[in-house]
Parts: sequence; C-alpha cells; structure tokens
Amino acid sequence: MRMALWVPAKRPRLLIVDDHAQNVELLTALMEAEGYEVISAADGLEALAHVAAIPPDLILLDIMMPKLDGYAVCRQLKANPETRLVPVVLLTALDAEDARILGIEVGADDFLAKPFSQAELKARVRSLLKLKTFTDELEHAGTMLLTLGRTVEAKDPYTQGHCERLAAYSDGLGRVLGLPPDDLTALDLGGALHDLGKIGIPDAILLKPAGLNEAEWVIMRQHPVIGERICLPLQSLKRVLPIIRHHHERWDGGGYPDGLSGQAIPMTARIMQVADIFDALTTERPYKPALSQAAALAALRDEVARGWRDPAVVEPFIDLMERGGLTKVSQAGRRVS
Ligand SMILES: [Fe+2]
Repeated sequence: MRMALWVPAKRPRLLIVDDHAQNVELLTALMEAEGYEVISAADGLEALAHVAAIPPDLILLDIMMPKLDGYAVCRQLKANPETRLVPVVLLTALDAEDARILGIEVGADDFLAKPFSQAELKARVRSLLKLKTFTDELEHAGTMLLTLGRTVEAKDPYTQGHCERLAAYSDGLGRVLGLPPDDLTALDLGGALHDLGKIGIPDAILLKPAGLNEAEWVIMRQHPVIGERICLPLQSLKRVLPIIRHHHERWDGGGYPDGLSGQAIPMTARIMQVADIFDALTTERPYKPALSQAAALAALRDEVARGWRDPAVVEPFIDLMERGGLTKVSQAGRRVS
C-alpha cells in the first residue's frame, strides 16, 4: 500500500553536527555531491535548535562537543515522539567499543568510525534514508487513517468530540489499571480508530434516527471487522487492532463479532468499551437527553450486574470518576479544568 503519493518529492535534508569546522566542510562537500541538502551545527544545542525548527531526514552527529555532547543530543531526540524517527549516525573514534555501547543505549541508529571511508559513509546514509522514507510513508498512512476516523465521527454531529473524550477516559482508566505505555498509546489511537469501520456502513443505516431492523444490524455489526481490515497492514497500529475488533464483545459472550467472553476479550478493548458506553450515556443524542454522571455510572453498574461488563474494569472507572480523578472533558471534546 503506497499512501505517500501525494507527498511532494524533495531532496533529503541532512544535519551535520561537529565542532571541528574542517570535518563539517568535508562532510558537507561529500553529502552535497550526493545530491543532499545539507545544514550544519557546531554544538549540541545548535543542533537541537535546528531539529526543532525543521526536522532533518538524517543526522550525522559527532560525540565530543562543547555545551551538549552527541549522546545527550541523541537521547533527547529519541525521547521526543516528534523526532524519534529521525535516523542518527554517531561519529565515533575507531575501536571505541565503550562509545558504541553508550551510543546504542541512547538510541543511535548507526555508527561510523573516524577516520571514515567515504564509500561506507555514502552507503550508510543511503540505506538509512531509504528506511526513513519507508517509516515516513507509514507515518503518513497512520495519520491518514486517524483523519479518516475523525471523518467518520464528523458524519454524526451528535458524536462530536467523542474520539477525544474516549481517549481521555480510557487513558485515565488504563493508568489506574497499570497498563504499560504501549497499551496507553493504543488506547489513545483507539479513541479515534475504534469505529473507523463505520466508513464501510451505508449512511442510510449509520445515520438512521430510529432503531435498526435485524437486517440492518447484521450490516452494522460488520464495522469492527471492516475497521480491523483497514488498519491491518500498518505495523504501527498492531496494538490498536484488538481494540478495533473487540470493542463490542460482551463479558458474558453475547457481543460481536467473535462472541468472546471474560478474560478472552483483550483488556484494552474492555477499557475502550466502558469509556464508549459512559460517553454515549452522558452526551445528548437526537433520541435521548444526556444522563448525569451519577446516572451513567449507575447504568454501568447495572451492566455489570447483568453480566455484560467486567467488574474489574467498571469499578475502578466508577471510582476514578467519582473521585474526580479525571480532567473533566466537555461536551465539545475540549478538556476543561
Ligand atoms: Fe463501534
């Protein structure tokens, strides 16, 4: 799947960071001869400023520099979601094993020993840029799917802000339940993507104001599977897939699409579901007014009593909401304190 056809072709932009002007000149000449656009910085702080202004496609980074050394620069870049995908090549001294180990620890993508071979430098830069193009395309594809998810939401003005509220509720609950960071990220994305499959449901069914008949429900129940299929090719969305597919399963096995029950329903899907129900109850729809928080939490308790929801997920959510442990999320989806 090539999703980046609309991205204009551009010359890769390299950032060379070295406090020795001679090294910068040499590297710049070599890289410009390869057709790259080159910018340079003489120390770590200047390098970070350049990256913040316009992230380059690759960084050649010296280690020993004044102000901020290469390790610190690399660590900061890799800790920032905005810049973590920019490849960093550390320029190390020959046979400096300790430097390489430290470089791996701070997240460097590759190393080049000084004095470097020009052919090796060119080959490494070329291969890392190829990889960068690929990850950029995946990022574009992921961004496009998130936009699509919000487009689906925008079809129904009554659900405006729903994605953001879901992300806020499920993130809060996920933290209380001690979920790992990767799952919290998946919940955040799941807020926008869980109903993406509704893009494949005809508007006549999706926006029907009255109740659906059985034939229409059969179609409507396809949306988790359609959504999963759309996101399947993207490795970056791997952890979101269980949320998309299973957010309508029921604790007693009476849900869809797979009729999973109990612990077989992925935890992230159970969390998203509780957030989804709570948000649906507390927002106004054409056919019903918004319930108060207390009434919505009572309804969730009732769903547990019926055996439909996991008490180990619902009770902490109720506790969290009653304690006011979540930033309040307004009807419009904006967080207000
Ligand atoms: Fe759904």
